[in-house]
Amino acid sequence: MPTKILITDGLANDGLDILKSEKSFELDVRKATDAAELLKLIPGYDCLVVRSATKVTREVIEKGTQLKLICRAGAGVDNVDVEAATRKKITVMNTASANSQAAAEQAIALMFAALRQVPQAHESMKAGRWDRANFTGLEATGKTLGVLGLGNIGRIVADRAIGLRMKVVGYDPLVKNPSQLPAEIRDKVAMRNSIEEVLKEADIVTLHLPLIKETKGLFNRDRLMQMKDGAFLINCARGGLVDEDAVADLLSSGKLRGAAFDVFAEEPVKSPSKLVQNAKAIVTPHLGASTAEAQLRVGITAAQQMVGFFTRGERTGVLN
Ligand code: NAD
Ligand code: MLT
Repeated sequence: MPTKILITDGLANDGLDILKSEKSFELDVRKATDAAELLKLIPGYDCLVVRSATKVTREVIEKGTQLKLICRAGAGVDNVDVEAATRKKITVMNTASANSQAAAEQAIALMFAALRQVPQAHESMKAGRWDRANFTGLEATGKTLGVLGLGNIGRIVADRAIGLRMKVVGYDPLVKNPSQLPAEIRDKVAMRNSIEEVLKEADIVTLHLPLIKETKGLFNRDRLMQMKDGAFLINCARGGLVDEDAVADLLSSGKLRGAAFDVFAEEPVKSPSKLVQNAKAIVTPHLGASTAEAQLRVGITAAQQMVGFFTRGERTGVLN
């Protein structure tokens, strides 16, 4: 019997080639799959491969009577009901660090875009204006960057910010001691004991924590008010961590000077979103991992992990 693999959000060709060369695999590759279609399809498959668009709900898992493996081609697994999968003895894996560099670079890109109002100046010029007076920005050099979450992505962001001559302060409940950080940033990131301590110091706050029960809605209005007056907020982690309406209000009131978001509570964003429409907010449609290099790495890593799992019983990238 072949191992039937359903890929619902596409996968890089090099990853597909690895899967195709495995004779026991039968592939069904789709670029996008809606929820109703997935529920109809899933009973026939041994393995489901998704990015962030497909929601692998309890219902999908219960209908997946043949499922043995759910492979998240990416990092965040908030779109997969891992508990339901575990109860049904279905293995869940991700490709943890394969797109970390891309996501970190997106955070740095958004930070500069916000500090210098690059999209707003670009728009203004495309509209025929030559407006230099309204786009005086701020420099990153010498500013304090608060990194919340110093896992795979937060560490790279911290490293790049140090290279930019920024002061970096961080908080991560799993990093109690700087010796847990990689040698190149160990002595250069000042670890704090709480989010509040970071918010008191940071001119720019960048989020790199997962969306889990404990972090859902973490950046509500009260917490946003703890940020310094005129601070910037960058979210390349997950929608759902932040109250987007509150950010829009605080941009309008001037409490926040800028915000740049790659991820949103509802994706695709349904209009009207107060945040997306706010002139001071810079937004990108979940592009953090969308580089040629990251997608190649993710596709190859996911494919190699799946081959290892089904043909050699390996458990690389397994989360449950
Ligand atoms: P990771 O697991 O390596 O690191 C996350 C870190 O956050 C961990 O060290 C954890 O201890 C820490 N953390 C948990 N709760 C926290 C809290 N309350 N305060 C501070 N830190 C906390 O994950 P990663 O690979 O660095 O990715 C982080 C998140 O970024 C992913 O979960 C995913 O949602 C998101 N992501 C987004 C994109 C994108 O396209 N925009 C790409 C990749 C990942
Ligand atoms: C991730 O968690 O890896 C990101 O959201 C990127 C993605 O899946 O597109």
